[in-house]
Amino acid sequence: MPVRTPMAPAAEQARVFPEILALDCGAALAECEIAPGLGAFSAYSPRRAQIVRETLGRALRVPGGEVFVAILGDTIVGYLLLVPAGIDQPWGRLGDASVQEIGIEVARGHRGQGIAQSLLRRAFARMEVESRICVATGYVWCWDIEDTVVEAGIYAHRLLALFERFGFLREWTNEPNVALEPLNFLAVRIGRDVPAALVRRFRLAQRGEQVA
Ligand SMILES: CC(C)(COP(=O)(O)OP(=O)(O)OC[C@H]1O[C@@H](n2cnc3c(N)ncnc32)[C@H](O)[C@@H]1OP(=O)(O)O)[C@@H](O)C(=O)NCCC(=O)NCCS
Repeated sequence: MPVRTPMAPAAEQARVFPEILALDCGAALAECEIAPGLGAFSAYSPRRAQIVRETLGRALRVPGGEVFVAILGDTIVGYLLLVPAGIDQPWGRLGDASVQEIGIEVARGHRGQGIAQSLLRRAFARMEVESRICVATGYVWCWDIEDTVVEAGIYAHRLLALFERFGFLREWTNEPNVALEPLNFLAVRIGRDVPAALVRRFRLAQRGEQVA
């Protein structure tokens, strides 16, 4: 008689990996639910689903903005945004839409399965990112230290290691919001086709110098 290995518990057997998609319009977003475990950037406010929906909608409307989602059925369980850096940041004031900021979040309850890596792979395996400067600003007050149960220094280290896998490098800046807290970081990915003149202007902005 064949020997059967014991079956894994149902929850383990049924773990399905989400689909990673580029969301191309507000109508597609309207058809999606927002997982209740999203909301790190609003400190899990009771309005978090609405806030996430508004954030994704804004990113879709801004010229040059892109939204990638990890979706299970019709529920968004993770997202990655690439949007032109805002004028609240010195590199955003360069007024060049190819200087972009990245935002990434995976819902509580869905972490540790490689979803963030899959989103990053989807976004950064494309030729078009080679002509962009992508900036990740790590602010300790946006991290979900409570759920991750690691101290902030380890969180920062892991987060940086994740970005570094996709070509980001930690860089110095005196931008006040980043420089304010030693655990905050700036990680930058300069695509190989970015014109040298833009890299020079970006470096000046990063150092807080006047850019013509
Ligand atoms: C950071 C975050 C996106 C990671 O998502 P995830 O889907 O759990 O990440 P993955 O499963 O793809 O893990 C990829 C790697 O990232 C590492 N990692 C990075 N940040 C991590 C974190 N906060 N907690 C756990 N692992 C993290 C893991 O160690 C893992 O490395 P490994 O492959 O060597 O095991 C998620 O924890 C999150 O949304 N946190 C709240 C919002 C946030 O901090 N966003 C970043 C702001 S800059």
